[in-house]
Amino acid sequence: MRNLITDQDLTKDEILALFESVKELKEKQKRGEPHRLLEGKTLAMIFEKTSLRTRTSFEIGMFQLGGHASFLNSQDLQLGRGETVADTARVLGRYYNAIMARVFDHGNLETLRECAGVPVINGLSDKFHPCQALTDIFTIWERGLDLREITIVFAGDADNNVTNSLMLICARLGIRFRVTCPVEYMPREEIISLAQIDKAADMFPVAIYTSDPKNAARNADVIYTDTWVSMGKEKENKKRIRLLSPYQVNKELVSCAKNDVLVMHCLPAHRGQEITDEVIDSTNSIVFDQAENRLHVQKAILTMLLR
Ligand code: CP
Ligand code: NVA
Repeated sequence: MRNLITDQDLTKDEILALFESVKELKEKQKRGEPHRLLEGKTLAMIFEKTSLRTRTSFEIGMFQLGGHASFLNSQDLQLGRGETVADTARVLGRYYNAIMARVFDHGNLETLRECAGVPVINGLSDKFHPCQALTDIFTIWERGLDLREITIVFAGDADNNVTNSLMLICARLGIRFRVTCPVEYMPREEIISLAQIDKAADMFPVAIYTSDPKNAARNADVIYTDTWVSMGKEKENKKRIRLLSPYQVNKELVSCAKNDVLVMHCLPAHRGQEITDEVIDSTNSIVFDQAENRLHVQKAILTMLLR
């Protein structure tokens, strides 16, 4: 039985095969060709945090594949009244063919995986967001860029789920990854070690620039950012905005990269904070292609795990 809890649950070859499958499913969807590969299959979707893209793309994805998805707000489950995650997993595993969960504590995904008896998919945890990172790299790959030749620069809060997942997938695929962030929000040693033990790590010169974001952005093929205040970190709001401001993705920073640099953001964006309107709405920005691709990637993930 397969799960997708972290980016390291898939080998390099599996990721590249997944991309081919995403491409095929996307083309079928665009042509209006039926592809009911999961007829009669069901997905439980547990949400401890809010969501637009993850929730709707999984829900629509299951529908288009001929299956059904149930949205389960954790507050409406008995979890909210103290039923354990393990018991919830045991019950849902008897009704559903798979579980997707968005949780605060990554450990809850591990408990779901141990107890559910069906595939478990990480729909975002405090540590990782693998479905997002797969979509991000697919979005670059489908444009025909050679993944071994590009440099992705992440600017902003580098101690969050999205950066962690990007770092792991870049390590696995051998993509050069640079981070520019304040010392307070650097990637954790634990995540860097995870990335470095990867087989492709010899092709993985992770570089961290704690000052001089412009130098980090030099010659970048992709500039990526995410919110400065991830869900659950709102208490530090003011401190984060103050420390992260120099790492804003604005016209000045983008001008240091290649002319045709791709600007990416997992969304939701806080316009005027981590990214300016001018940049997110520019022709370099591919953020809505990324958002669209969440649908096609979720469908390929579901098909891979459930068929
Ligand atoms: N990018 C992303 O996961 O968006 P949602 O929080 O809206 O699901
Ligand atoms: N890092 C962000 C990602 C949102 C999709 C968060 O966790 O809120």
